[in-house]
Amino acid sequence: MKCRRCRAPAVIDVRRHNAGFCADCFTRHCREQVRRAIDDHEMIAPGQRVLVAVSGGKDSLGLWHLLRALGYETDGLYVGLGIGEYSDESGDSARAFAHEHGWPLLEVDLRATYGFDVPSGARAIRRVPCSACGLSKRHVFNDAARANGYDVLATGHNLDDEAAVLLGNVLRWETGYLGRQHPVLPAAPGFVQKVKPLVRLGERELAAYCVLTGIDYIVEECPMAAGNRHLGYKELLNEIEERSPGTKAAFLFGFLERGHERFAADAVEERADLHPCPECGAPTPADVCSFCRLRARATRVIPVAAENSA
Ligand code: AMP
Ligand code: FES
Ligand code: ZN
Repeated sequence: MKCRRCRAPAVIDVRRHNAGFCADCFTRHCREQVRRAIDDHEMIAPGQRVLVAVSGGKDSLGLWHLLRALGYETDGLYVGLGIGEYSDESGDSARAFAHEHGWPLLEVDLRATYGFDVPSGARAIRRVPCSACGLSKRHVFNDAARANGYDVLATGHNLDDEAAVLLGNVLRWETGYLGRQHPVLPAAPGFVQKVKPLVRLGERELAAYCVLTGIDYIVEECPMAAGNRHLGYKELLNEIEERSPGTKAAFLFGFLERGHERFAADAVEERADLHPCPECGAPTPADVCSFCRLRARATRVIPVAAENSA
């Protein structure tokens, strides 16, 4: 197979585009896909400061590398979630990458800063770890970006991630989530803008980008995510994609172009009655935000019964 652009021997084929690429043209293709996502969805305005959330995996390190290659002077943010060896290794990977390039990396450790970690948080609310994890990451990303003067927070969610989330939301007709599922969540009082510049690139493309550009990433996935619903949807979509290449992209991009708008009202309604959480100031529809409730339960000191305390 030959490179679609320069006719040199191809090193990767992207079935969705029915094309092969040589290494140089492939990295250019990745940059163009990110450029296009940023432009099409007006993700980053000139002069805005961008913070990239990096986990040490291929998507987020690839994203940081791509944004820098496109001229965005982005800094990184790593959040220590306290998930045993996995977190140690993902922190090491993010730090090594930042150090190698001399790019600033902010670090927030959930236990040191907020007094709990993902496993203890999940136990306290009796939910699966991923739900305590997702809630904590969303809160800490926003908090860290605001506290350090960033306007935009970028995450490494790719085409495969977004298509799997879309499938889950459609299967349950989660209209509020569908209204919010977009590569850009605009800034609002208390919220920085959230963007997903990798929506036009699949998981396999990110892995190839990292290998071809020499990015050393951790291959292990979070051990707590094994068997979760999201991974199941990814596998199902991969089976469909295998039979008819391009379906995943058509599903996601079709929704963004023709479906999303129809659910936007549901999301606006949810954002309308937000007020600052009295504990942390984050916008919430409840008395106290869900992160502060999680934190309170996870860090609660069990009172000693009166008869035992004398
Ligand atoms: P996940 O929720 O694990 O699918 O990760 C989605 C995105 O969140 C990644 O691409 C990163 O941008 C970001 N992310 C995940 N884990 C961390 C972490 N521990 N620290 C900073 N960013 C993270
Ligand atoms: Fe959050 Fe695994 S990364 S539970
Ligand atoms: Zn709060």
